[in-house]
Amino acid sequence: MVEHSVCLTRTEAAAAPERVLTAVESARLEALLQRRLRREPLSHILGHKPFWTLDLLVTPDVLTPRADTETVVEAALDMIADRAAPLRIVDFGTGSGAILLALLSELPNARVLGVDASEPALAVARANTEEHGLSARCEFRLGDWAAGLADESFDLAVSNPPYISTKTLAGLAPEVRDHEPHLALDGGADGLDTYRILIPQIFRVLKPGAATALEIGFDQAAVVKALMGQAGFSGISVVRDLCGNDRAICARKPV
Ligand SMILES: C[S@@+](CC[C@H](N)C(=O)[O-])C[C@H]1O[C@@H](n2cnc3c(N)ncnc32)[C@H](O)[C@@H]1O
Repeated sequence: MVEHSVCLTRTEAAAAPERVLTAVESARLEALLQRRLRREPLSHILGHKPFWTLDLLVTPDVLTPRADTETVVEAALDMIADRAAPLRIVDFGTGSGAILLALLSELPNARVLGVDASEPALAVARANTEEHGLSARCEFRLGDWAAGLADESFDLAVSNPPYISTKTLAGLAPEVRDHEPHLALDGGADGLDTYRILIPQIFRVLKPGAATALEIGFDQAAVVKALMGQAGFSGISVVRDLCGNDRAICARKPV
């Protein structure tokens, strides 16, 4: 917040420890502090958040991208044999566009479709895509998971769906509960509603042999694995995040 108030980068601020804030800068910092004291998330106050190698615009209309979600990006990249291939990728529940933009930044010839049920979220994703010069390889669609995708098929499907149980959500920190969109978080009574709907839909839109990587809650691996098996996926594996928690599930549609 200090860096933001004085319009300096972290490096510039660190290089000028003797710098005294002007009255205008102090007033600006005080206003930011008051917002933070009301438990507004730092990403909303600053308006952006780093994710992967990118800096992303964040508003209250989207989930703030989390470092945990980089596990999904890594897991998806690990399943791609040829990173120069002209892959067609779909990201369900694209939000800020975090996952799809990270993938596009690593896959020079891939094209991505981002689907979200929130038009304001898609506006943020579009802005991020333009900011990073990746619009030419991105398409966004307002929709209910894969319901609107009739004849399209993909080489890779990724998603970080809402997976927090309604009861757990009510007890989360105010930064999340009161400031982030519940459409991005609420996974129903047991947190698994979206996986039940989305996993068979992903199976339907993948090409034979294509891959998927989904984010999961730390205690959801066994149930989501079973749902993927029931849908027909093979080679199902669980990937841990940097804290050692189960965080992503990967699988392939059999050839
Ligand atoms: C957990 S957020 C993930 C956002 C982003 N992909 C990320 O990882 O930071 C889930 C996203 O799913 C979207 N969503 C919720 N219900 C949906 C539905 N029925 N169809 C499509 N998207 C939906 C929400 O609007 C939200 O953007």
